Amino acid sequence: MNIICDIQKEYDTALFLGAKLIKEGKLVAFPTETVYGLGADAMNEDAVKSIFTAKGRPSDNPLIVHIGKKEQLSELAASISPMAKKLTDAFWPGPFTAVLKKRDCVPHCVSGGLDTVAVRMPETKFARDLILKSGCFIAAPSANISGKPSPTLASHVIDDFGDVLPLIADGGPCGVGVESTVCDLTGDIPVILRPGGITAEMIKEIAGDVLVHEAVLGGLKDGPAPSPGMKYKHYSPDADVVIYCGDKKDVAQNINLLYDTIKSGCVIMCMSEHAYLYEGKNIINLGHDSKEAAKHVFAVLRDSDKKGIKKIIFHGIGTDGEGLAVMNRMIRAAGHNVTYITGEVKID
Ligand code: TXA
Ligand code: MG
Repeated sequence: MNIICDIQKEYDTALFLGAKLIKEGKLVAFPTETVYGLGADAMNEDAVKSIFTAKGRPSDNPLIVHIGKKEQLSELAASISPMAKKLTDAFWPGPFTAVLKKRDCVPHCVSGGLDTVAVRMPETKFARDLILKSGCFIAAPSANISGKPSPTLASHVIDDFGDVLPLIADGGPCGVGVESTVCDLTGDIPVILRPGGITAEMIKEIAGDVLVHEAVLGGLKDGPAPSPGMKYKHYSPDADVVIYCGDKKDVAQNINLLYDTIKSGCVIMCMSEHAYLYEGKNIINLGHDSKEAAKHVFAVLRDSDKKGIKKIIFHGIGTDGEGLAVMNRMIRAAGHNVTYITGEVKID
């Protein structure tokens, strides 16, 4: 049996119960500004292990540790460079996760055996209050079954876990919609390992420079993954997803041809500005800009499953701003099935 608490109406009840459960080593699903998290006491190894079991998550994929105030970072990180300090000061609380050398107190099971720890201070007040009230650092991956799209509504959490979680705190839809930007701050230049609501442009403005890891948009070469999460299949709806990128007219010609060969159970996902290219067809409009697209992308993938969609054809978007995060999630949802159109119409 689980309890679902609406935090608009029952903030204090949800907070009191949530903090009690975390202290007891139990799991709590809670809202953040990015996606819903599945939290447990980061210093309690049994509690952390139960996160991996509930999600079906591989044990070498480390978790983000959530803090309630900035000063707590030094309790987890062994060294914080001036650049790391500048970035966390600029973006916390918010959708930014700092990867830093870890202190010995961070359990092996949280860091997945790495010598670094990923730390984030969420923007959502309930999440920070839960951390501070429980007196625990909260390890929290996204509250989805491993491999499924991340949850941006409490109902998504319920869809994945049924009633096995003791508490789901319902804070309504998440504002950002994609998970936090994971940024390696152990070197001289920040390296984005997973793009999110804090964009490369925003990081560059503060740090002067930024690198985007090649695995963000590409595949992985042999050898260890920079962020262990990158090597796993992700965000995959039941539908087969394909992506077309390039000049909009050429892309539309290819997409229309492919759609016409399938039709039934097929949907075209695109931005508002491209909707006119697909008139009369079954489309999902992701909104006017990449911020809106980020907010809706996971819910749209989950909805397509509910509707029994078999094929999603995505008209790729630009990678500036939040576009990088949207493309990163869609490329993974598509299992890297991306076609870059260079002029002539081509269907395999
Ligand atoms: O927005 C978010 O970040 C959400 C909310 C709940 O805070 N959490 C989240 O956690 O997305 P999760 O576990 O689904 O994703 C964490 C990502 C994984 O790709 C993992 O591999 C990476 O962060 N990560 C964690 N620790 C790392 C480390 N020490 N070095 C490199 N990557 C790390
Ligand atoms: Mg996740």
